[in-house]
Amino acid sequence: MSETRKKITLPYLFKKAAEGEPISWLTCYDYPTAYLQEQAGVEMILVGDSLGMTMLGYDSTLPVTMNDMIRHASAVRRGAPTAFVVGDMPYMSYQPSNELAVQNAGRFMAEAGCDAIKLEGGAAMAPRIKAIVEAGIPAIGHLGLTPQSASALGGFRLQGKSAALAKKIIDDAKALEEAGAFAILLELVPDRLCQIITERAENCLIFSLGSGPHAHGQLLIYHDMFGLYPKFKPRMAKVYGNAGEIIQQGLASYVEEVKGRVFPAPENYFGMKDEEYEQLLQLLEEEDND
Ligand code: KIV
Repeated sequence: MSETRKKITLPYLFKKAAEGEPISWLTCYDYPTAYLQEQAGVEMILVGDSLGMTMLGYDSTLPVTMNDMIRHASAVRRGAPTAFVVGDMPYMSYQPSNELAVQNAGRFMAEAGCDAIKLEGGAAMAPRIKAIVEAGIPAIGHLGLTPQSASALGGFRLQGKSAALAKKIIDDAKALEEAGAFAILLELVPDRLCQIITERAENCLIFSLGSGPHAHGQLLIYHDMFGLYPKFKPRMAKVYGNAGEIIQQGLASYVEEVKGRVFPAPENYFGMKDEEYEQLLQLLEEEDND
Protein backbone atom coordinates (compact mmCIF):
# COMPACT_ATOMS: atom_id res chain seq x y z
CA MET A 1 0.00 0.00 0.00
CA SER A 2 2.71 2.48 0.93
CA GLU A 3 5.19 1.28 -1.72
CA THR A 4 4.92 4.65 -3.40
CA ARG A 5 4.90 6.63 -0.16
CA LYS A 6 7.33 9.53 -0.06
CA LYS A 7 9.89 9.70 2.75
CA ILE A 8 8.32 11.01 5.96
CA THR A 9 10.18 14.16 6.95
CA LEU A 10 10.08 16.73 9.73
CA PRO A 11 8.12 19.23 7.57
CA TYR A 12 5.58 16.45 6.88
CA LEU A 13 5.13 15.85 10.63
CA PHE A 14 4.69 19.56 11.40
CA LYS A 15 2.23 19.88 8.49
CA LYS A 16 0.11 17.03 9.86
CA ALA A 17 0.10 18.67 13.29
CA ALA A 18 -0.86 22.05 11.80
CA GLU A 19 -3.72 20.37 9.91
CA GLY A 20 -4.90 18.74 13.14
CA GLU A 21 -4.25 15.21 11.83
CA PRO A 22 -2.86 12.94 14.56
CA ILE A 23 0.44 11.25 13.74
CA SER A 24 0.83 7.47 14.12
CA TRP A 25 3.92 6.17 15.91
CA LEU A 26 4.80 2.62 16.97
CA THR A 27 7.76 0.82 18.43
CA CYS A 28 9.53 -1.70 16.23
CA TYR A 29 12.77 -3.60 16.56
CA ASP A 30 13.18 -5.89 13.54
CA TYR A 31 13.07 -6.05 9.75
CA PRO A 32 9.87 -8.07 9.12
CA THR A 33 7.80 -6.00 11.55
CA ALA A 34 9.22 -2.78 10.11
CA TYR A 35 8.18 -3.99 6.66
CA LEU A 36 4.61 -4.62 7.88
CA GLN A 37 4.42 -1.25 9.65
CA GLU A 38 5.67 0.54 6.55
CA GLN A 39 3.09 -1.24 4.39
CA ALA A 40 0.35 -0.33 6.90
CA GLY A 41 1.25 3.35 6.60
CA VAL A 42 2.68 3.88 10.09
CA GLU A 43 4.38 7.27 9.89
CA MET A 44 6.91 7.14 12.72
CA ILE A 45 8.79 4.19 14.22
CA LEU A 46 10.57 4.18 17.56
CA VAL A 47 13.37 1.68 17.89
CA GLY A 48 12.94 1.77 21.65
CA ASP A 49 15.37 0.53 24.24
CA SER A 50 12.29 -1.40 25.42
CA LEU A 51 13.78 -4.00 23.08
CA GLY A 52 15.83 -5.01 26.11
CA MET A 53 12.62 -6.41 27.58
CA THR A 54 10.52 -7.29 24.50
CA MET A 55 13.29 -8.79 22.36
CA LEU A 56 16.19 -9.65 24.66
CA GLY A 57 14.31 -10.84 27.75
CA TYR A 58 15.93 -8.54 30.34
CA ASP A 59 13.80 -7.37 33.29
CA SER A 60 14.48 -3.71 32.50
CA THR A 61 15.89 -1.51 29.74
CA LEU A 62 19.08 -0.77 31.66
CA PRO A 63 21.37 -3.48 30.23
CA VAL A 64 20.76 -2.37 26.61
CA THR A 65 23.89 -1.14 24.81
CA MET A 66 24.44 1.21 21.88
CA ASN A 67 25.55 -1.77 19.79
CA ASP A 68 22.24 -3.53 20.52
CA MET A 69 20.39 -0.40 19.45
CA ILE A 70 22.38 0.11 16.25
CA ARG A 71 21.89 -3.52 15.20
CA HIS A 72 18.10 -3.30 15.64
CA ALA A 73 17.72 0.23 14.27
CA SER A 74 19.59 -0.73 11.08
CA ALA A 75 17.26 -3.71 10.55
CA VAL A 76 14.22 -1.48 11.06
CA ARG A 77 15.52 1.07 8.58
CA ARG A 78 15.96 -1.68 5.96
CA GLY A 79 12.36 -2.79 6.49
CA ALA A 80 10.83 0.69 6.58
CA PRO A 81 12.69 2.92 4.16
CA THR A 82 10.18 5.79 4.17
CA ALA A 83 9.07 5.84 7.83
CA PHE A 84 10.49 8.49 10.17
CA VAL A 85 12.72 6.24 12.29
CA VAL A 86 13.72 7.36 15.79
CA GLY A 87 16.63 5.75 17.65
CA ASP A 88 16.14 5.58 21.41
CA MET A 89 19.29 6.40 23.35
CA PRO A 90 19.97 3.63 25.88
CA TYR A 91 20.89 4.00 29.54
CA MET A 92 24.17 5.88 30.10
CA SER A 93 24.69 6.55 26.39
CA TYR A 94 23.92 10.27 26.99
CA GLN A 95 23.59 11.00 30.71
CA PRO A 96 27.34 11.35 31.49
CA SER A 97 28.21 14.23 29.13
CA ASN A 98 27.21 16.31 26.11
CA GLU A 99 30.14 14.86 24.15
CA LEU A 100 29.05 11.27 24.73
CA ALA A 101 25.46 12.19 23.90
CA VAL A 102 26.45 13.77 20.57
CA GLN A 103 28.73 10.85 19.67
CA ASN A 104 26.05 8.25 20.32
CA ALA A 105 23.28 10.27 18.69
CA GLY A 106 25.57 10.52 15.67
CA ARG A 107 25.93 6.73 15.57
CA PHE A 108 22.16 6.35 15.20
CA MET A 109 22.23 8.68 12.20
CA ALA A 110 25.43 7.48 10.51
CA GLU A 111 25.34 3.74 11.21
CA ALA A 112 21.63 2.99 11.38
CA GLY A 113 20.16 5.65 9.07
CA CYS A 114 17.80 7.04 11.72
CA ASP A 115 15.96 10.34 11.24
CA ALA A 116 16.10 11.46 14.88
CA ILE A 117 16.92 10.32 18.39
CA LYS A 118 14.95 10.25 21.62
CA LEU A 119 16.24 10.54 25.16
CA GLU A 120 14.63 10.51 28.59
CA GLY A 121 14.67 13.27 31.18
CA GLY A 122 13.57 16.81 31.93
CA ALA A 123 15.40 20.12 32.42
CA ALA A 124 18.54 18.32 33.62
CA MET A 125 18.83 16.74 30.18
CA ALA A 126 18.15 19.99 28.26
CA PRO A 127 21.90 20.59 27.74
CA ARG A 128 22.17 17.13 26.08
CA ILE A 129 19.25 17.96 23.75
CA LYS A 130 20.84 21.33 22.95
CA ALA A 131 24.22 19.80 22.13
CA ILE A 132 22.65 17.08 19.94
CA VAL A 133 20.45 19.59 18.07
CA GLU A 134 23.45 21.90 17.58
CA ALA A 135 25.23 18.94 15.99
CA GLY A 136 22.41 18.87 13.43
CA ILE A 137 20.53 15.89 14.81
CA PRO A 138 16.77 16.14 15.42
CA ALA A 139 15.98 15.24 19.03
CA ILE A 140 12.89 14.13 20.94
CA GLY A 141 12.47 14.44 24.71
CA HIS A 142 10.64 11.93 26.87
CA LEU A 143 8.82 12.92 30.09
CA GLY A 144 6.43 11.37 32.59
CA LEU A 145 7.12 7.71 33.12
CA THR A 146 10.69 7.35 31.91
CA PRO A 147 11.59 3.65 32.16
CA GLN A 148 15.34 4.25 32.62
CA SER A 149 14.46 6.00 35.91
CA ALA A 150 11.63 3.63 36.90
CA SER A 151 13.36 2.85 40.16
CA ALA A 152 13.62 6.53 41.15
CA LEU A 153 10.02 7.13 40.02
CA GLY A 154 8.67 4.35 42.24
CA GLY A 155 7.90 1.87 39.47
CA PHE A 156 5.78 1.87 36.32
CA ARG A 157 2.98 4.17 37.47
CA LEU A 158 1.11 7.33 36.47
CA GLN A 159 3.30 10.45 36.76
CA GLY A 160 2.33 14.08 37.44
CA LYS A 161 -0.81 13.28 39.42
CA SER A 162 -0.48 16.20 41.86
CA ALA A 163 -0.55 19.84 40.79
CA ALA A 164 3.04 20.33 41.93
CA LEU A 165 4.37 17.33 40.03
CA ALA A 166 2.30 18.23 36.97
CA LYS A 167 3.78 21.76 37.06
CA LYS A 168 7.28 20.25 37.15
CA ILE A 169 6.50 18.23 34.00
CA ILE A 170 5.16 21.39 32.27
CA ASP A 171 8.39 23.22 33.20
CA ASP A 172 10.49 20.29 31.98
CA ALA A 173 8.61 20.27 28.66
CA LYS A 174 9.30 23.97 28.20
CA ALA A 175 12.99 23.46 29.00
CA LEU A 176 13.27 20.69 26.41
CA GLU A 177 11.43 22.74 23.79
CA GLU A 178 13.70 25.72 24.46
CA ALA A 179 16.72 23.45 24.16
CA GLY A 180 15.57 22.58 20.64
CA ALA A 181 13.61 19.33 20.96
CA PHE A 182 11.29 19.14 17.96
CA ALA A 183 9.02 16.71 19.82
CA ILE A 184 8.29 15.44 23.31
CA LEU A 185 6.81 12.11 24.28
CA LEU A 186 4.59 12.18 27.37
CA GLU A 187 4.34 8.69 28.82
CA LEU A 188 1.65 7.89 31.36
CA VAL A 189 0.67 11.35 32.56
CA PRO A 190 -2.95 12.50 33.11
CA ASP A 191 -4.83 13.46 29.93
CA ARG A 192 -5.43 17.05 31.09
CA LEU A 193 -1.73 17.56 31.77
CA CYS A 194 -0.96 16.28 28.27
CA GLN A 195 -3.55 18.69 26.87
CA ILE A 196 -2.02 21.69 28.66
CA ILE A 197 1.46 20.82 27.39
CA THR A 198 0.15 20.32 23.84
CA GLU A 199 -1.66 23.65 23.90
CA ARG A 200 1.42 25.44 25.23
CA ALA A 201 3.86 23.89 22.77
CA GLU A 202 4.96 26.51 20.27
CA ASN A 203 7.32 24.73 17.94
CA CYS A 204 7.25 21.24 19.34
CA LEU A 205 5.13 18.17 18.59
CA ILE A 206 3.64 16.43 21.62
CA PHE A 207 3.11 12.68 21.55
CA SER A 208 1.04 10.65 23.97
CA LEU A 209 1.76 7.17 25.25
CA GLY A 210 -1.06 6.39 27.64
CA SER A 211 -1.57 10.13 28.20
CA GLY A 212 -4.82 10.64 26.32
CA PRO A 213 -6.01 12.01 23.00
CA HIS A 214 -4.98 15.68 23.31
CA ALA A 215 -1.61 15.42 21.59
CA HIS A 216 -0.24 15.81 18.07
CA GLY A 217 0.31 12.07 17.81
CA GLN A 218 0.03 8.71 19.53
CA LEU A 219 2.62 6.06 20.36
CA LEU A 220 2.00 2.43 21.29
CA ILE A 221 4.33 -0.43 22.07
CA TYR A 222 3.92 -2.93 19.25
CA HIS A 223 4.36 -5.97 21.50
CA ASP A 224 1.50 -4.78 23.74
CA MET A 225 -0.80 -4.33 20.73
CA PHE A 226 -0.50 -7.95 19.66
CA GLY A 227 -0.05 -9.91 22.86
CA LEU A 228 3.62 -10.54 22.14
CA TYR A 229 5.10 -9.70 25.54
CA PRO A 230 4.33 -12.49 27.97
CA LYS A 231 5.26 -10.80 31.27
CA PHE A 232 2.59 -8.07 31.50
CA LYS A 233 0.19 -5.90 29.53
CA PRO A 234 -0.01 -2.26 30.66
CA ARG A 235 -3.57 -0.96 31.15
CA MET A 236 -2.98 1.87 28.66
CA ALA A 237 -2.20 -0.55 25.83
CA LYS A 238 -4.94 -1.49 23.39
CA VAL A 239 -4.78 -5.04 22.07
CA TYR A 240 -5.55 -5.10 18.34
CA GLY A 241 -5.11 -8.85 17.93
CA ASN A 242 -3.66 -11.72 19.89
CA ALA A 243 -0.81 -12.75 17.64
CA GLY A 244 0.98 -14.31 20.62
CA GLU A 245 -1.92 -16.74 21.09
CA ILE A 246 -2.08 -17.58 17.37
CA ILE A 247 1.67 -18.23 17.26
CA GLN A 248 1.47 -20.40 20.37
CA GLN A 249 -1.35 -22.48 18.87
CA GLY A 250 0.67 -22.88 15.66
CA LEU A 251 3.74 -23.98 17.59
CA ALA A 252 1.75 -26.58 19.53
CA SER A 253 0.29 -27.90 16.23
CA TYR A 254 3.79 -28.15 14.78
CA VAL A 255 5.02 -30.25 17.68
CA GLU A 256 1.93 -32.48 17.42
CA GLU A 257 2.32 -32.91 13.65
CA VAL A 258 6.02 -33.77 13.89
CA LYS A 259 5.28 -36.37 16.57
CA GLY A 260 2.34 -37.73 14.53
CA ARG A 261 4.35 -37.75 11.26
CA VAL A 262 1.81 -35.40 9.68
CA PHE A 263 4.56 -32.89 8.95
CA PRO A 264 6.28 -32.83 6.54
CA ALA A 265 3.71 -33.57 3.83
CA PRO A 266 4.80 -34.07 0.19
CA GLU A 267 4.31 -30.38 -0.59
CA ASN A 268 6.90 -29.52 2.09
CA TYR A 269 9.83 -31.39 0.51
CA PHE A 270 11.43 -32.33 -2.80
CA GLY A 271 11.84 -35.67 -4.55
CA MET A 272 14.57 -37.05 -6.82
CA LYS A 273 14.16 -38.54 -10.30
CA ASP A 274 14.08 -42.38 -10.32
CA GLU A 275 17.03 -42.65 -12.69
CA GLU A 276 19.19 -40.38 -10.54
CA TYR A 277 18.18 -42.29 -7.45
CA GLU A 278 19.03 -45.66 -9.05
CA GLN A 279 22.39 -44.29 -10.16
CA LEU A 280 23.09 -43.01 -6.68
CA LEU A 281 22.34 -46.44 -5.17
CA GLN A 282 24.67 -48.00 -7.69
CA LEU A 283 27.45 -45.53 -6.85
CA LEU A 284 27.07 -46.33 -3.16
CA GLU A 285 27.09 -50.07 -3.82
CA GLU A 286 30.25 -49.79 -5.89
CA GLU A 287 31.88 -47.79 -3.14
CA ASP A 288 30.90 -50.35 -0.52
CA ASN A 289 32.36 -53.16 -2.65
CA ASP A 290 35.74 -51.40 -3.09
O1 KIV B 1 11.90 2.16 24.74
C1 KIV B 1 10.75 2.46 24.43
O2 KIV B 1 10.04 1.74 23.71
C2 KIV B 1 10.23 3.69 24.95
C3 KIV B 1 8.77 3.76 25.08
C4 KIV B 1 8.39 3.14 26.38
C5 KIV B 1 8.29 5.11 24.95
O3 KIV B 1 10.95 4.57 25.30
